[in-house]
Amino acid sequence: MLPAYLPNPVAALCGGGTPIDLGRNFTDGRRVFGDGKTYRGLITGILAGIIIGLIQIWAAGAYGLEYLPQQTVLSVTLLSVGALLGDLIKSFFKRRFGKERGAKWPVADQYDLVAGAFLLLLVFNPAWLFAEVTLAAFICILILTPLLHRAVNIIGYLIKVKEVPW
Ligand code: CTP
Ligand code: MG
Repeated sequence: MLPAYLPNPVAALCGGGTPIDLGRNFTDGRRVFGDGKTYRGLITGILAGIIIGLIQIWAAGAYGLEYLPQQTVLSVTLLSVGALLGDLIKSFFKRRFGKERGAKWPVADQYDLVAGAFLLLLVFNPAWLFAEVTLAAFICILILTPLLHRAVNIIGYLIKVKEVPW
């Protein structure tokens, strides 16, 4: 899951600048995505996820880590792109529900990256998904994701990278 987990914190660290919606509003008069979704965050986050995935592929070859899922260039790309696409689509609906940037939206804020990553895998690489992600692994992911999400966001808040600790 590293290629899916890394993009969000890297986007928070490196993001900023031009928002993806270019400051524009949707038909309801609210921002399309908001100032929290920027091109720089999207691109640096996706690149970071793919790079950590390529390192995993290299490490699996060099050290024979057969007990881990065998990542491919496609699987790490889908995990990384899916994570931030999920985050972006989450923000689209968050704005439609009238929630401001950074507002708390339980469940959606924690699972957007998992939903995005797994949906992309399901569509573009289902063979890898069903061969490598067992039910036990999936349940672990569902339990660990909100805990990791909270822990990393508290760290992000303490080091002043994030404005809120969620
Ligand atoms: N970020 C970014 N570009 C992205 C995703 C995130 O620049 N595509 C950066 C922004 O600085 C953002 C921070 O990472 O504020 C934290 O991300 P997140 O919590 O997802 O954004 P929020 O500011 O909480 O906005 P939203 O309410 O839309 O989730
Ligand atoms: Mg947020």
